[in-house]
Amino acid sequence: MFQITRKQELAKGTIVRFDILAPKIAKKAKAGQFIILRVNETGERIPMTIADKDEFAGIITIIFQVVGKTTALMRSLKEGDFIRDVAGPLGRPAEVEKIGTVLMVGGGTGVAILYHVAKAFKEAGNYVISIIGAREKDLVILENEMDFISDELVVTTDDGSYGYRGFVTQPLEKYLEERYDIKLIYSIGPIIMMKNVCAITKKYNIPTIVSLNPIMIDGTGMCGGCRVKIDGKIKFACVDGPDFDGQLVDFNELSKRNSIYLKDEKDCLLFSIK
Ligand SMILES: Cc1cc2nc3c(=O)[nH]c(=O)nc-3n(C[C@H](O)[C@H](O)[C@H](O)COP(=O)(O)OP(=O)(O)OC[C@H]3O[C@@H](n4cnc5c(N)ncnc54)[C@H](O)[C@@H]3O)c2cc1C
Ligand code: FES
Repeated sequence: MFQITRKQELAKGTIVRFDILAPKIAKKAKAGQFIILRVNETGERIPMTIADKDEFAGIITIIFQVVGKTTALMRSLKEGDFIRDVAGPLGRPAEVEKIGTVLMVGGGTGVAILYHVAKAFKEAGNYVISIIGAREKDLVILENEMDFISDELVVTTDDGSYGYRGFVTQPLEKYLEERYDIKLIYSIGPIIMMKNVCAITKKYNIPTIVSLNPIMIDGTGMCGGCRVKIDGKIKFACVDGPDFDGQLVDFNELSKRNSIYLKDEKDCLLFSIK
């Protein structure tokens, strides 16, 4: 059993942050890795990125968007409540090294996943430029945290209610036009956003890493649920990723596979709130 030591509702309560007491995971976790949790005995297993950790306090942080049955159940938990199982850290850590200037592009809840990676690149001595986006002002998350670990930060909103009006890809393209020292781009967010980021960075020939979010069940390479196609070859995101070279990812197939259970997921949520 893993205790929730802190709960914070972000972005109109649609995004929630939990600090969870998990000393063994906190000790080992590296940026880019994730956990698989089960809220209770009968709960489904879902993956969540380790958005941050405090090794000394034995705490890991997850930040999740409420999108369905399990995340709605998680939102109903309070500080002091327990999560039944937390397994991790899983997946390959982000490859972090000192390379110069790196550009981080995050959208929606993807910013939570990006934060730990951006922080690690900053700690490794890089110049970090971050672009974070959301649909509207109230959905912007981790602005202060990203500002703290970034040398430059641009915030975008689709509707222009805060920061730059438009998608993250617009300031991205501007940076790529104006700066010639960007060595690496990290992009995490909705599939369509990552796909568009990669289309732009391809033109400028800049290595681009994306973090993929296929359906995961066991998280250990056994079930095949998280199958993704990279450079025409099958990979399992839970053990070979979740980070991959964005130019090699088959985003269309990922999109298709992620929508296979949409109807069941909707029914499940409706049934659970009846
Ligand atoms: C490596 C990885 C890291 C992730 N990190 C985060 C994170 O930090 N914050 C966050 O908000 N979300 C994260 N996700 C997505 C998160 O796992 C899903 O939002 C969650 O499982 C939804 O469950 P649900 O029952 O609430 O919704 P459901 O109604 O069951 O599903 C809603 C959508 O969530 C996704 N999903 C559902 N079940 C799974 C599953 N077992 N594995 C993967 N995706 C699933 C699907 O796209 C689905 O359409 C991550 C996914 C992966 C693969
Ligand atoms: S989640 Fe089962 S193989 Fe990756």
